[in-house]
Amino acid sequence: MIAVPHGFAQSPGNIALVPKPLNVKELDGYFTIRENTSVISDAAFRGVAELFSRQELGSSMVKIVKRNSAPARNSIYFIKKNLPEQNNKEAYQLDIQPSYVQVIAATVEGAIHGMQTLLQLQLLQKDRNRLPCCSIQDAPRFGYRGLMLDVSRHFYPVNTVEKMIDMMALYKLNTLHLHLTDAAGWRLEIKKYPELTQTAAWRSHQTWKDWWFGDRLYAGEGSPDAYGGYYTQLQAKQLVAYAAARGITVIPEIEMPGHSEEVLAVYRQLSCTGKPYTQGEFCLGNDSSFIFLENVLLEVMDIFPSTYIHIGGDEANKSHWEKCPKCQQRIKDEHLNGVDELQSYGIRRMEKFVSSHGRHLLGWDEILQGGLAPGATVMSWRGESGGIQAAKAGHDVVMTPAGYCYFDSYQANPLTQPEAIGGFLPISKVYGYNPVPSALNSAEAKYVLGVQANVWTEHIPTSEHLEYMIFPRLLALAEVGWTAAGNKNWDSFETRLQKQYTLLQRCNIHYYHPIPNLQIKATA
Ligand code: ACM
Repeated sequence: MIAVPHGFAQSPGNIALVPKPLNVKELDGYFTIRENTSVISDAAFRGVAELFSRQELGSSMVKIVKRNSAPARNSIYFIKKNLPEQNNKEAYQLDIQPSYVQVIAATVEGAIHGMQTLLQLQLLQKDRNRLPCCSIQDAPRFGYRGLMLDVSRHFYPVNTVEKMIDMMALYKLNTLHLHLTDAAGWRLEIKKYPELTQTAAWRSHQTWKDWWFGDRLYAGEGSPDAYGGYYTQLQAKQLVAYAAARGITVIPEIEMPGHSEEVLAVYRQLSCTGKPYTQGEFCLGNDSSFIFLENVLLEVMDIFPSTYIHIGGDEANKSHWEKCPKCQQRIKDEHLNGVDELQSYGIRRMEKFVSSHGRHLLGWDEILQGGLAPGATVMSWRGESGGIQAAKAGHDVVMTPAGYCYFDSYQANPLTQPEAIGGFLPISKVYGYNPVPSALNSAEAKYVLGVQANVWTEHIPTSEHLEYMIFPRLLALAEVGWTAAGNKNWDSFETRLQKQYTLLQRCNIHYYHPIPNLQIKATA
């Protein structure tokens, strides 16, 4: 039986883990990692044990153990065994005794979380080789715990994304959603359409703001002053593998039908007018648009094995379709009732395509407009109403309401901050979010898969600034996604957060004001 999980609030003691585990028992004493400490694993967890061993002991020596052998002294074990919480595939158990450590799980996901708890405990100690004895049983509240990175408005190199993946894993997030395409730049090599990365990935100004409020032109790769970049297919596959080894799924987002100015600048025949720089929406009366999008998704699905393929779907300006003869013809031919249903037609067509390849379509809550495609999962960002509507209709949802989950918002008094998109989202507000809206009954609540923070990067030009916007708010979101509702407590979190700041420094995370040339705005 699991003991009452309230240890932290009274005594954070040696253990200041985030997210707070289901149950922690602090014990006397320490396990000391020595040069000759062995890492011993069941075959199933060899990859996890190797990763731990490489990161922490500077070696990749892992012995494969026979089951049921008694724990040897001075060893760290990774053991595959069913747990009482076996209906939760991410559950794990961690025991740290003076003479041995064991991570027990039924699945690789569970073993990874146990390993990450061990890593975090190390990073929280002054002496990383001295681990406080404890017994932890743990499992997440939600199966989807995500972070979305917008790599279009500003582009971040692979090592920035890898560092983010390391930190996500440390805090037990399991989904990285990459917003790969938008007006400000296409960020993924597509072999069939080379102009996407030869031209549409590059723009005339370095910062989004200068570009957006300037000429909004694209530039050829390598041309003077061109700003941009993209991930090659090889880099993207390596990123997917890097994340998978850490228990993280990468979901690609390819925007459609709106937010696609960069595509239509180079493949102008896919816009309603046939002219570049006139709109951001694909012409949905033109079959070539669907052929293009399907060909792109074929390459995307080859790179990203995720169950979900995100097709955007937000903020399309439908007025172009009102005036387009081809779109109007489509509305007539398909007996659609206006442009909302035309968008829905487009999303349904893509949903069929994605499903026929064994994947699930995921989109922003505008995909509800004109009727939701069967099988579609909704990301609720304009508040919670889209998520509520979708869940009541029996569709899965991921909650990302802007008021709680948009990390491009200000996190403190704007007078003291680098420019942000607006809003005000201090860490306490993130922490207070409950992803299950009270409007849902318990049957409907099962459709809430989890929660995600979104980081739109219009005003975030560097990797350091990106870290500043994400940390420490991501720790609060991690606890929202993982920790049982009755086990959350702001005072406890705030106490643990003080210790986590030291950890973030050790991990070289720029959670503090790092922005060179920050101009503090003068008050009027
Ligand atoms: C969004 O923030 N436009 C999904």
